Amino acid sequence: MTPSRNRSFALAIFGAVLVVFGTLLCLFWPFIFHRLLSKELSMSPTSTSFDIWKNPTSVPLHLEIYFFNWTNPEEIRTPGKKPSFVQLGPYTFLERREKVNVVFHPQNNTVSFDQKRTWYFDAERSNGSLKDNVTQLNVVAISAAHKIRNWAFYWHTMFDLMLSKIGQIHVTKTVDELLFSGYEDTLINMGQITKIVDLPPFDKFGWFYMRNESTVFDGHFNMATGQDNIMNIGILRNWNYRNTTSFYDAPCNAVEGSAGEFWPPDKNYDEITLFSADICRPLTYEYKGIMTHQGIVGKRYVIGDKTLSNSTKRRYPRKQVNLVETATRTSEDFVAMEDSGKAFESLKKFQDPDIVNVGQCFCNGECTPSGIINVTACRYGAPAFVSLPHFHKADPVFREQINGMNPDDEKHGFYIVLEPTTGIPIDVAARLQVNILLQPLQSLSLFKDVPKTYFPMFWFNERAGITEELAPSLWLLIHLLDIGHYTSIAILFLGSLIVLGAGVLHCLHKRDKADMVMMMSNKPMSTGFAVPAEQKTELIYLDTTVANDDRDAQTRLNRQLYPKLVGDNLQDL
Ligand SMILES: *[C@@H]1O[C@H](CO)[C@@H](O)[C@H](O)[C@H]1NC(C)=O
Ligand SMILES: *[C@@H]1O[C@H](CO)[C@@H](O)[C@H](O)[C@H]1NC(C)=O
Ligand SMILES: *[C@@H]1O[C@H](CO)[C@@H](O)[C@H](O)[C@H]1NC(C)=O
Ligand SMILES: *[C@@H]1O[C@H](CO)[C@@H](O)[C@H](O)[C@H]1NC(C)=O
Ligand SMILES: *[C@@H]1O[C@H](CO)[C@@H](O)[C@H](O)[C@H]1NC(C)=O
Ligand SMILES: *[C@@H]1O[C@H](CO)[C@@H](O)[C@H](O)[C@H]1NC(C)=O
Repeated sequence: MTPSRNRSFALAIFGAVLVVFGTLLCLFWPFIFHRLLSKELSMSPTSTSFDIWKNPTSVPLHLEIYFFNWTNPEEIRTPGKKPSFVQLGPYTFLERREKVNVVFHPQNNTVSFDQKRTWYFDAERSNGSLKDNVTQLNVVAISAAHKIRNWAFYWHTMFDLMLSKIGQIHVTKTVDELLFSGYEDTLINMGQITKIVDLPPFDKFGWFYMRNESTVFDGHFNMATGQDNIMNIGILRNWNYRNTTSFYDAPCNAVEGSAGEFWPPDKNYDEITLFSADICRPLTYEYKGIMTHQGIVGKRYVIGDKTLSNSTKRRYPRKQVNLVETATRTSEDFVAMEDSGKAFESLKKFQDPDIVNVGQCFCNGECTPSGIINVTACRYGAPAFVSLPHFHKADPVFREQINGMNPDDEKHGFYIVLEPTTGIPIDVAARLQVNILLQPLQSLSLFKDVPKTYFPMFWFNERAGITEELAPSLWLLIHLLDIGHYTSIAILFLGSLIVLGAGVLHCLHKRDKADMVMMMSNKPMSTGFAVPAEQKTELIYLDTTVANDDRDAQTRLNRQLYPKLVGDNLQDL
């Protein structure tokens, strides 16, 4: 009949369409997936990544601060006695990072913004209160002394008079004063008035003084959106309107690396670079195995020798290329090649290469043993040095100068875990310690005969990660490639089945039609042709020897398609 024939024909076409669709999907899905991913990940005013990035509550950040309480300041000049420290804390703050003054520049595929960070004390996650008293080195006096070190002697005499009246080598302040509210220091006021020493432009001293809710402290950022090429996403192009800083000598002054929140997808780096506004320089992280967070597998990058060593070599073609883009050649490879004499040959391929011991250009003057970063220039001339907590991964000499350091990689390592398909950071532990260098200065009685020591002041642990709520959607995003792949195979399979089914059905209909013709010739049925298909097929299985006694055996043997004999044999069925 025409309707049923049309039906199986339509079914066959439907099946064929599915087959074609399944095949195309199977072939093009990876391409489509990466297009979709690029679109979702790259920054535009309408993309998902933009919403998450701009919204300060989407990824909770916790800042844990640990102080080192200096327990024996009176023994500083006692020979054979080392400064002793007891760790206090954590004093935990919930941090909100808001992006303000966000302006997109489609002409060069960048976005400009300022960052506003707000901290809220979280008493429940803290071990101690903001009222705890902590004894520390007198940073203000040391900064001032550091500034006048190389000045003419009569300045020293004058300064000594001032210091001996008001200063002590240590201060005892509450945690709150040391961090956010700041404390007044006579020296600061005098410095402001007399302009003898060019102290920081603040009326008080506190490690985070004036930083709460400030939109200017972190500086002005200009970051690539990845609109032109997703591989550029998140790379910091300019900081404070320039692509170099004034804090280090070239090429260490380059503004390079990720701004920290975005990394290009589908890349297998053996190192990554992040620019830290806190210490005014890029940090290099080295690949260190796989780590799982909230059920999502990521690659772990840690701070190690490439950042902390005082002799890390790096190749810089004169045209300041970003390390992110040249990550295929690591400095380790380079050093190995250099040793084997092959470096020069391979370097000839690059235009005007420049090999730099970045360890040295980051020293900024006098170098130190490995493991600490000189941030003097970035911190208003205070002799500040950043290290991993408890001088982890640093030259043992730092730990041996003092008592109380217990480095432990679990607690004190600095790492970022990136999900490799999307480049999304799933777990971050940013841990750094701030140290102040105490140096003897014989012309000042306060600093006479003190040992040259790097004093740990505090360390912080900034934790951020994919939340339990976000994890399933990220999991889906990562597995969409596989899901699409299997779906396309399923569609292909289903399509083939349907085509096959339509073919079988078509054949059956042909037979069926023959039956009908015979049926009609024998005995016209009044009920017409409205018999359902299953009933018809049921009825056409008939035995040839219905009258035979040995039916069971025969039935199975002779059972086949026969024209239905209506009427006489019906009761035998
Ligand atoms: C820190 O050490 C001082 C002694 O140097 C002590 O008086 C003070 O209680 C300590 N602070 C805490 C919170 O234990
Ligand atoms: C809390 O701080 C004290 C020192 O002030 C320390 O002994 C103790 O182990 C800390 N507790 C936790 C859970 O960290
Ligand atoms: C930071 O500012 C906010 C808003 O004014 C305030 O609620 C919060 O307590 C401040 N944080 C600190 C640590 O002072
Ligand atoms: C992109 O253009 C904006 C506006 O002209 C400018 O502020 C920014 O510095 C430019 N960025 C780069 C990397 O050239
Ligand atoms: C640290 O940097 C400052 C200024 O950038 C420089 O004067 C000093 O020599 C450097 N090294 C040490 C150990 O202070
Ligand atoms: C560089 O670091 C090594 C290892 O800590 C140390 O032995 C060496 O003295 C350091 N170099 C300088 C110039 O301080």
